Amino acid sequence: MKQTRFLTGITTSGTPHLGNYVGSIRPSVAASQGANAESFYFLADYHALIKTGEPARIQQSTLEIAASWLAAGLDPDRVTFYRQSDIPQIPELTWFLTCVLGKGVLNRAHAYKAQVDKNLAAGNDADADVTAGLFMYPVLMGADILMFNAHQVPVGRDQIQHIEMARDMAKGFNHLYGEHLVLPEALIEESVATLPGLDGRKMSKSYDNTIPLFSSREQLKKLIAGIVTDSNGPGVAKQTEGSALFQIYQAFASADETAAMRQSYADGIAWGDAKTMLFERIDRDIAPMREQYKALMADPQKIEAILQAGAAKATALSAPLMHELRHAVGLRKLKTSDVTTSKAKTVKAGASSFKQYREVDAQFYFKFLSSEGKLLIQSRGFASPKDAAQAIANLQQLGTDALAALQNQIDVIPGVAVADIEDALSSLTPASKN
Ligand code: TRP
Repeated sequence: MKQTRFLTGITTSGTPHLGNYVGSIRPSVAASQGANAESFYFLADYHALIKTGEPARIQQSTLEIAASWLAAGLDPDRVTFYRQSDIPQIPELTWFLTCVLGKGVLNRAHAYKAQVDKNLAAGNDADADVTAGLFMYPVLMGADILMFNAHQVPVGRDQIQHIEMARDMAKGFNHLYGEHLVLPEALIEESVATLPGLDGRKMSKSYDNTIPLFSSREQLKKLIAGIVTDSNGPGVAKQTEGSALFQIYQAFASADETAAMRQSYADGIAWGDAKTMLFERIDRDIAPMREQYKALMADPQKIEAILQAGAAKATALSAPLMHELRHAVGLRKLKTSDVTTSKAKTVKAGASSFKQYREVDAQFYFKFLSSEGKLLIQSRGFASPKDAAQAIANLQQLGTDALAALQNQIDVIPGVAVADIEDALSSLTPASKN
C-alpha cells in the first residue's frame, strides 16, 4: 500500500508559543510517530520574508522553531525535516504555478482581501502596503505542497482556502502538461484545540497575548498569573464555559484531570489555586523538553547539520520532479536526441549497470559499473532498499546533476572522472524521455 504523505510548514517569523505547540507541533510530532505516515515538516523561511524585513529575526526564529520541534520529539530520521530556502526547486516551481493560475483567484485570497478591505475602510488606496509577495503567497504555499506530491496537509481552518488553491494549480498544470502533480487535501483535526491567550482571545502574536512555549519556570508562572478571570472570589462556584484558564488546562490535561478541575470550579476553587494547578500541569509536560531545547539552542551547528541532512533527503525528491516538470513544460536541453521524436526509446549501447545488494552490516548498497565492468560509483550503506533505489533513480533521471545531492551517500572512486560517469549514465537513460 502506498503511504499517505503528510506535509506542513511553519513560518519562521516568531517565537513558538503554547498555542503553536497545542495546535501544530504536538499533533504533528504525534502523527509522525504513526506507522503508516510519511511526513514532511519544514521551516517556511521564504514565507517569513513576506511578514518581516528583519534578517536577525528570521534567523533567530528559524533556530527557535527548529529547536522547538526537535525538543518536542520530532525524529529527523523518521521524517523529512528541512528548511524551505535550502530547496531551490520550490521558488522555481512557484514560477511554473504562477503561470497556470488565474490572477483573479489570488484577488480572492483571504489574507490579501483582508488587507484591501482594511485599506478601503481607512479611505486608502486598495493596495496600500500590499507587497506583491503578500499577493503571491498562496502560490509559494502551493509550490511547497506540490513539490513533494503531498496527499494530506494538516492545517488550521484559516488555511483551507490555500489548499484548495494548490489543488487548482495542480489541476491547471496537469491539464496543460499531463499528470505530474498530486492534488492535495486539507486535513483539519477537529480535536486539535485553538488555545485562548492571556486575554481570552485566540493566542496569537498579533494580539500580543501569548505564552512562549519555552519560558523559564518563573516566567511561565508569572504569565499564567496574568490570565484573565472573572472577579468571583474563593468559595463562589465558577463557570468553565468561556474560561480561558480552563480551556488551556484542558489542552494539557487527561480526561480525568479535566473532570477533577471541572469539579473544583463547581466547588468554588480560588483563582490563585486554579492558576497554580494550571502552571504545574503545563510545566510537567514542558520541563523535560525545556532542557532539550536549551541544549539545542546552545548548539546551532547541530541543528544546521540536521537541516542539511534534511535538505539532502528533500532534494532527492524535489530535484528529479523538477527535472521532469522542466521537461514537461518545454525547458529542455537542445540535444538532437531530445528534439527528434522518432528515435528509438532506449539506447542500451554499452550496457553499463547498477548492482544493488545487501551487506553483512544489514545495510543496502549499490555499485555503478561501466560496460567494461569498471567500478564508477560505490554507495555507502542505506538503511532501506527504498533509499538505495531512490538514489539510483535520481542518477538515472538527473545524470551527473544528481551527484551533488548524493555526495554524503556515495564515495568517489580514485581515477574516475565525472565525464566517465556522465558517459555511462547517458548510455543507460532513454534517449528521449517523456
Ligand atoms: N502558511 C502557513 C501558515 O502561515 C505556513 C505554511 C507555508 C504552510 N507553506 C505551507 C503550511 C505548506 C502547510 C503547507 O501557517
